[in-house]
Amino acid sequence: TARRPVRIVEVGPRDGLQSEAAILSTEVKVAFINALSRTGVAEIEAGSFVSAKAVPQLANSEDVFRKIERVPGVTYSALVPNERGLERARAVGAQKIAVFIAASDTFTRRNINATIAESLERFRPVVAGAKRDGMALRGYVSTALFCPYEGRVAPARVADVTKRLLDLGVDEISLGDTIGKGAPTDVRKLLDAVLLGLPPERLALHFHDTYGMAVANVLTAWWEYGIGTFDSSAGGLGGCPYAPGASGNVATEDVVYALKACGATVAVDERKVVAAAQSVGRELNRRLSSRLSQVESSG
Ligand code: HMG
Ligand code: MG
Repeated sequence: TARRPVRIVEVGPRDGLQSEAAILSTEVKVAFINALSRTGVAEIEAGSFVSAKAVPQLANSEDVFRKIERVPGVTYSALVPNERGLERARAVGAQKIAVFIAASDTFTRRNINATIAESLERFRPVVAGAKRDGMALRGYVSTALFCPYEGRVAPARVADVTKRLLDLGVDEISLGDTIGKGAPTDVRKLLDAVLLGLPPERLALHFHDTYGMAVANVLTAWWEYGIGTFDSSAGGLGGCPYAPGASGNVATEDVVYALKACGATVAVDERKVVAAAQSVGRELNRRLSSRLSQVESSG
């Protein structure tokens, strides 16, 4: 087809590991990221510069950033909640930062202790500072389909928050189905609303896989709307085993397999992703949730 190759943003080292019960050492994370750097993914979200009390799993992100090998062509990004986070990201040479907000106020307050309006004000100097330093910028909009506290979220609300982030100056928007509840019909309604305000090239989609809908959602967005950037985590890492209902990101290898099987061009070698995830799975003492990891391990 004439479509552009699909870009995979590997978020396992950040989104995956932030919600695993175990805290991994710098060495294990560095080995994981170095392996991911050789799978063909376009971008790796390698850590986050948030409060260590909020997310102790990622408290060693500075150390990780300093020790990873930077493979040319791969972008290494970090999640940043405020100016202090930006300073930390800058100090270790992150090429791209991501600010994050939700389409529902309750979730935004619980996640970053501010309303949507307050968060946007807090991001203003972060975005300006990052731009001054030539860093690329992503803006996450969580709860783009469902909020765990408010239920179904109207597409118009997501479109509105998206527009405000674009107005601040972020380059790329990633819409998150944070609790993995959406189905392709919901994705259509969301994209019909959001794409009125930005071209599909500037949009990424970020699906969690709680209800097993994520691959179907990815295919719908790619096939019907030409979305070409998807976030995923190697092995489907993430999701606290002690919190029923919580689930990790859709597995990178499963997304890559599905897209390739449907004719997409994807530069990622899904077998290398499985191998990288399996090493980390052993460190976490946990079985991976991805389909492909089970095929590989049973021969
Ligand atoms: P706060 O309590 O409102 O702010 O937290 P604060 O300024 O009073 O700071 C509280 C403490 O954090 C203080 O330490 C600060 O120094 C420290 P204390 O005095 O208590 O010892 N602090 C920091 N430390 C390191 N780096 C910083 C920083 N800022 C403050 N940058 C805050 C507000 C945003 C800091 C806090 O709520 C926070 O860190 N939240 C993190 C939330 C988070 O990481 N959530 C997960 C990521 S979002 C996600 O996963 C969704 C996504 O995947 C998309 C999707 O799936 O939908 C992206
Ligand atoms: Mg997420």
